[in-house]
This record gives sequence, structure tokens and C-alpha cells, in this order.
Amino acid sequence: MAAEFGEEDADDPGDIVSKVLTISGSLRADSSNSVLLRAAELVAPQGVTVLHYTALAAIPAFSPDLDEEGAVPPAPVAHWRAALAQADAVLISSPEYAHGIPGALKNALDWVVGSGELVNKPVGVLSASSASAFVHPQLIEVLTTMNAMMVPEAITMLDIPRRGADPAQITADPGLAFALRGVLSGLAGAMTAVVLR
Ligand SMILES: Cc1cc2nc3c(=O)[nH]c(=O)nc-3n(C[C@H](O)[C@H](O)[C@H](O)COP(=O)(O)O)c2cc1C
Repeated sequence: MAAEFGEEDADDPGDIVSKVLTISGSLRADSSNSVLLRAAELVAPQGVTVLHYTALAAIPAFSPDLDEEGAVPPAPVAHWRAALAQADAVLISSPEYAHGIPGALKNALDWVVGSGELVNKPVGVLSASSASAFVHPQLIEVLTTMNAMMVPEAITMLDIPRRGADPAQITADPGLAFALRGVLSGLAGAMTAVVLR
């Protein structure tokens, strides 16, 4: 079974493992964006662990009143911030809703504008449908405004069947596997660059 954030094995202290946290903008059980991120895990290069954040729906609506200096964040927000803080890079894949970012994903991002877990963090953006022409630039704009480090090699739109897709089926497609490998190696390069800085 794929590893979700909080379920990963304890690291071997001898290994240097870079962690990529994936976030699907879709809460749909059979989401093609979530399947695409599971497929990305299958092609991760050696030394890169891919964990999936699956608790987006639990994050309450953002209010600046709950985010004031010294405020104790709601537990799901603390969990979300910890997941991001522990990741070396982030990979988002999102559908487009009414030409925009799905509310659950935008809400989660709003919770880390002030706390800053994405500042200077390498981030990639995928979409499981090449029709998502609006959400892609919007996500890049939001993440850039939050001072995330956008990784050009890890920003792409792919076409995945909307229903019944399977991670292994996706990586069996040479074109999709090649594209996903490029995304993961782009993130791996950016993570190395951050460590060497
Ligand atoms: C409420 C809603 C609004 C949508 N609006 C758009 C849209 O504006 N543009 C678009 O290309 N697709 C739109 N779609 C289609 C989804 O983006 C598309 O089916 C996507 O691949 C679903 O992703 P998922 O399989 O990860 O859930 C919409 C779907 C829903 C449910």
C-alpha cells in the first residue's frame, strides 16, 4: 500500500532520503489527480520517498482570526503544517473547478501563507487533464506569491482517464512514465540544490 503522511517507516539513520509530499486537489475517491500522484511514487528515483497527504478535507475554513500571532491552530491545521514542514519538496496535482482552484486546496494553502511552510520549498504542479488551462497558472501564481520555489521541470499537464485509472497502468504508458520521471528528477535536483545552498 502507498505510504501516507504519518505512516512512513522510521528512516535508517544511514540513509539520506528526500521526502516529496503529494497533495491532490480532488477529494473524489476515484480521482485521476490522486491516481497520477500514486503513479509518480512508482517512478521516484532512488533516495526519494513519496508520501501522500490525504487529510485535506479535515482542514477547517481559514480565518485570519484563528491565525493570529500565538494562536493555537486547529489540530488538522497543525497536522497539515507539520506534513509540509517535514517535506523536502511538494507535488500538487489538481483538477479545475469553474476555471479555478478547488476550494479545499485553496483553503489549505491559505492556512500556510502566514506560517510559511512553503517558503523556498521546491514545488511542482501537475494536472491530470490538459483541459485544466486556468487552474494551472492560478496555482503557479498563488504558490509564487507564497514564495514557494517553483520547479519548471515539475510543472506539466498530462491526460489521465477520469475514471478507473490505475497507477501501474499510468506508468506502463511510456510517454506518461517519461513525463513523470522528468517531474520527479526535477524535484530531486531542486532538493539537492536547496541542501547545497
Ligand atoms: C464542480 C466542477 C467544476 C468543474 N469545472 C471545470 C472547469 O472549469 N474546467 C475544466 O476543464 N474542468 C472542469 N471540471 C472537470 C474536472 O476538472 C475534471 O473532471 C477533472 O479531471 C477531475 O479531476 P479528478 O479526477 O481528480 O477528480 C469541473 C468538475 C466539477 C466537479
